[in-house]
Amino acid sequence: MEDYDGPEDVVRRSRPEVPVTCFRPAALKSAARWFLHNFPGKTLYAVKANPDPFVLAGLFEAGITHFDAASLPEIEQVSTLCPGAHIAFMHPVKSRHAIEHAYFDYGVRDFSFDSLAELDKIVATTGNSKDLGLLLRLAVPNVNAEMPLNDKFGCLPAQALALLRAARKVSARLGICFHVGSQTMNPDAYVTALGLCGDIMRQMPRTAVDIIDIGGGFPSAYPDMTPPPLSEYKAAIERGLDALPHPNRYEFWCEPGRALVAECTSVLVKVELRKGDVLYINDGTYGSLFDAGHMGFRYPVRLIRPTPDAVSAAGITPAVQIAGTKPAGGRKSALKPFRFYGPTCDSIDYMPGPFFLPDNIGEGDYIEIGQLGAYGNAMRTGFNGFSAHEIVSVKTPPVVSMYADTTETTDDPEFCVA
Ligand SMILES: Cc1ncc(COP(=O)(O)O)c(C=O)c1O
Repeated sequence: MEDYDGPEDVVRRSRPEVPVTCFRPAALKSAARWFLHNFPGKTLYAVKANPDPFVLAGLFEAGITHFDAASLPEIEQVSTLCPGAHIAFMHPVKSRHAIEHAYFDYGVRDFSFDSLAELDKIVATTGNSKDLGLLLRLAVPNVNAEMPLNDKFGCLPAQALALLRAARKVSARLGICFHVGSQTMNPDAYVTALGLCGDIMRQMPRTAVDIIDIGGGFPSAYPDMTPPPLSEYKAAIERGLDALPHPNRYEFWCEPGRALVAECTSVLVKVELRKGDVLYINDGTYGSLFDAGHMGFRYPVRLIRPTPDAVSAAGITPAVQIAGTKPAGGRKSALKPFRFYGPTCDSIDYMPGPFFLPDNIGEGDYIEIGQLGAYGNAMRTGFNGFSAHEIVSVKTPPVVSMYADTTETTDDPEFCVA
């Protein structure tokens, strides 16, 4: 991976024709450090948020040695890049093929389930082994989440007792896990969910639970979604854990995806055409911007403008101008709301924003789109042939950060988060 000072440097040196992922190793480290220092238990990285090898290797190097995998390819990837790591297979519905290979080929012992059929499947496929960690996925309210996840998975509290008792008989370790929904904006969601776990455990005092796994859901910062500081999530979780019956008896796990990796990459895209307030850019919902289209996420954006290229043909690297700043001898342009269309021919390759950018933006300009480390490249497809993208490493900090006290974050006023 090539090193650059920052996205401006990428534009200056290479004028990229494909979207460029700008990876910030320092930001990844800061996020890892926060969880390792603040969560009172094991932090399992939810690989689905970003399985890129440089992210997995970076987290492992930063001290994250536990991983939540949803599929066999994720397990294979983690096993290769993070030797000796603990991998839990936390998808509540798995194929027998995947369970068998995870257990026998990759040494995975911890599995989640939310039904008797899945429990039976895990036990049978692993040959009635006596060393399983079985975690029951409980459905909990997702009302505070921007992306609720409780329709598809999770047993109702009323079903939990029978499932836990059945799992206790066939497990070496028994756990309860849940997910409060992705991008959870209210820390009390964890208190409510842990309260439900406590209610269940009080009803089965003779069935010992070993692991409480509070899942993911920790937020990142976006222009119109500023969550409370992570310290409030830590305080709420500690309150919820303390209120459990026998709080010192359990091992605590969490499975952050978004919060660990959102800040570690931005994507540099090129404007191919402007029509009024619409910008046609070279990345879209079939690329790294699925959430900007289908979930209406507004990512922070800023314009990076190459200056006229009269000298580049002569082999001299042209300068870049950070738009919104005052160009030499020019005037600063006002910010205006824009909508984006991606590069494919599909009309739903559309990102409504609004994304606030200087009014004078046009073809040939570049836009840096921030906070795309989570669920960005992970969702990329090759639809219409637009799969090509580059990855570079940059030194500049993320502009929006939940880890301001542990990162040298900048409040760069040019990043248009309005
Ligand atoms: C089981 C499980 N754990 C963790 C996560 C990560 O969630 P987040 O990215 O909101 O932290 C997910 C996301 O879908 C999940 O399904």
